Amino acid sequence: MSQLSKLYEGKAKILYATEDSENLLAYFKDDATAFNAQKRGTIQGKGEVNCTVSSVLFQYLEERGIPTHYLEQTAPNRMRVRAVKIFPLEVVVRNIAAGSLCKQTNLPLGRPIREPLVEFYYKNDDLGDPLLTRDRILLMELASVGQVEEMVALALQIDRYLTTFFEDCGITLVDFKIEFGLDARGQIRLADEISPDTCRLWDAAESDPQRRVMDKDRFRHDLGQVESTYRALRERVLQAAKIGNSSPSAD
Ligand code: TMP
Ligand code: ASP
Repeated sequence: MSQLSKLYEGKAKILYATEDSENLLAYFKDDATAFNAQKRGTIQGKGEVNCTVSSVLFQYLEERGIPTHYLEQTAPNRMRVRAVKIFPLEVVVRNIAAGSLCKQTNLPLGRPIREPLVEFYYKNDDLGDPLLTRDRILLMELASVGQVEEMVALALQIDRYLTTFFEDCGITLVDFKIEFGLDARGQIRLADEISPDTCRLWDAAESDPQRRVMDKDRFRHDLGQVESTYRALRERVLQAAKIGNSSPSAD
């Protein structure tokens, strides 16, 4: 499938049109940003890791009945996806307190969250991606009531499946960010990526708060060994996918 014009360039990916208007090609970059792009750098090989990890996880979720935009991985850092219209929302699911939740509340880092928390943030760099309420989403007409409910239900299902998948990798899924889009038929599909850039992943065998980090927090907080940790994460994910996971069955 040939790559035509560039449709969109984000911080971590470029989307290209193809000769089929319902398909796009996503190219995963090595560029890394944090704190609303105030910090910039390169993580060598990140594009290949994130594309491969996302491909494995999208396939895993599709097999369990979650609609995604994934079609195929066409190269280590390229993925063919269905064209979707992305909701300008970042949907974050939290299983353990970390990151902005700890900064904005008095919850200590590492506190387990019994009922996973689903949060919506407005994808808007100028406003600094603020936390939204359901009523603000409706007021701003970013999604309908039914769409918000469907995204919450899908996010919780995805959390269950990913938690099990990562347990099989010896990794604790602390929290993650996902994005949804609407396809040509109006169906909500999981889109964007699921990777160490968009998840907090802790090595379950490590208790040291810095050594256990297997995600972009290594880059955000200058913890070192960023590239090697991304590669190690990819190996664990590929290994778990090869063995096949004893996952919860589709609802
Ligand atoms: P937070 O604790 O900083 O709000 O992040 C929650 C999760 O969302 C964490 O797994 C990292 C991910 N995330 C992104 O993927 N993109 C972002 O821009 C931010 C702020 C967080
Ligand atoms: N990706 C975001 C940015 O650079 C923030 C982050 O992941 O920490 O704006």
